[in-house]
Amino acid sequence: MRPSSDLSGLGFVKNGIVETIVSTYDEERSPNAAPMGVYTEDMRNIVLKPFKTTQTYENLLKLRSGVANITSDPTLFHRTVFKDANPEGRVPGEWFTHAETVDAPRLMNADACIEFRVISVEDSEEKARLLCRVEKILMIYKPTLRVYSRAVSAVIESLIHATRIEAFLASGEAKKAKDLIGLVKHYHRIVEKVAPNSKYSEIMSDIKRRIDGWRRG
Ligand SMILES: Cc1cc2nc3c(=O)[nH]c(=O)nc-3n(C[C@H](O)[C@H](O)[C@H](O)COP(=O)(O)O)c2cc1C
Repeated sequence: MRPSSDLSGLGFVKNGIVETIVSTYDEERSPNAAPMGVYTEDMRNIVLKPFKTTQTYENLLKLRSGVANITSDPTLFHRTVFKDANPEGRVPGEWFTHAETVDAPRLMNADACIEFRVISVEDSEEKARLLCRVEKILMIYKPTLRVYSRAVSAVIESLIHATRIEAFLASGEAKKAKDLIGLVKHYHRIVEKVAPNSKYSEIMSDIKRRIDGWRRG
């Protein structure tokens, strides 16, 4: 394995954050997955910064193993950030298989998987910084030719903002929430323009419904 060339081959640049979906096992060994930003400082290890309130953080502390799944599919981001968007209220078990080198599940539908072990944990008040050693990179070769749709990035940006909007509204940080809600509205308009009546516009409507609900309290 050559993590260095493989990480750059996946599009990593030093200290640049990329968005992945991190899968882990919980205490009952049920698979969990959640979108998480990841970066590398040395092209050999990766760093995660989960909020300490997340299940992902709890699972990584216990088993010290995880997989950063690489995808640009907005549906995978949507269904792993909001578990209740799934029919059974959790990410379907059949989406996962076991990783090869670490005690963690991986997403079968990902384009590539980075299997990692947590080697150090630094805590701050809200977030932790987890330094993780890359154990294996699994490339799942699929046809990669895809048209570029602005809707894909707009939906993923909106999902990132949505999780922060929920937190800001809950903590009374109204100005920060309002600014992000403005951005989500902007992305919603883009999606309605470039992909009306699509799976992307459905996700945007779901995000809007959630924001309206959080605002009502
Ligand atoms: C693209 C994207 C990136 C995210 N990055 C992070 C992150 O780096 N750290 C974090 O704590 N939450 C991040 N989130 C929010 C978590 O995915 C969200 O809180 C999730 O519900 C946590 O799930 P869990 O409790 O199962 O771990 C991100 C969300 C999205 C959509």
